[in-house]
Amino acid sequence: MNLGITQLSPVIGAEVNGVDITKPLENDAFAAVHQALLDHIILVFRDQPLDDDALMALGRRFSTLVIHPFIMPNTDRPEIVAIMRDPGDTTIVGEDWHSDTTHIATPPMGAVLHAIDVPPRGGDTIFASQYAAYEALSDGMKKMLAGLNAVHDDTHVAGPKSGKNNTRANKVRDGANWRPTSNVHPVVRTHPETGRKCLFVNRSYSHRFENMTEAESEPLLSFLLEHGNRPEFTCRVRWTPGTTVIWDNRCMKHIAVNDVTEHRRVMRRVQMTGDKPF
Ligand code: SIN
Repeated sequence: MNLGITQLSPVIGAEVNGVDITKPLENDAFAAVHQALLDHIILVFRDQPLDDDALMALGRRFSTLVIHPFIMPNTDRPEIVAIMRDPGDTTIVGEDWHSDTTHIATPPMGAVLHAIDVPPRGGDTIFASQYAAYEALSDGMKKMLAGLNAVHDDTHVAGPKSGKNNTRANKVRDGANWRPTSNVHPVVRTHPETGRKCLFVNRSYSHRFENMTEAESEPLLSFLLEHGNRPEFTCRVRWTPGTTVIWDNRCMKHIAVNDVTEHRRVMRRVQMTGDKPF
């Protein structure tokens, strides 16, 4: 099956047409979409409203669905999170550069995010290729990073110290029983399907290198975090109702741009189970 592909930037992102994602994908259609995702990292589909069954069916074509570890359930399907911004919210889900839930041992391989109600302007999402970020590093830096691990934890995005629950519609777990979750992942991971290397650290979850303090880690970690967001590694998606983005969480960071205050923004998202990074 041939898809219509329009690239959004030289290194990441493609708008896709020629496939109906509102219906269960037949094998040939799924194979084409899957290959396009490996090639382009994020795929954008326009004007195809998805109900919850269709959203879950699309995600399940890639893997089993994840139940989010710390966002409080807010739909009648445990696998679907409504990503909400209410007028006046000062913080939002995903407002720092991140890959999704990398504090767990097997971070999601990807996600499907579907727009229901979006502001007339603003509320875009920016995506950055971490293949391109890795490939742009010098040979000396690549050598230094080989074998280096980072500790990822959820203390900045969940729990009582994160301070999220007074500032936005989406609530996170922060009760007395909440405990941080932490896992160690390679700073440079190899994509399990493409075999390509990419940077795998992010602002929301990666706070230090293994066996080092935060202060010791800070200079190099800050460089890597900023480097990974350089504009030439990115594409920007402007949402309209009925837009769906599928992303590959293994080789990409993204940020929800927190630039609207007076409008609601309502999205629905599923995440697909991934593997242990290596
Ligand atoms: C996310 O980080 O998963 C949410 C992105 C968005 O709402 O644009």
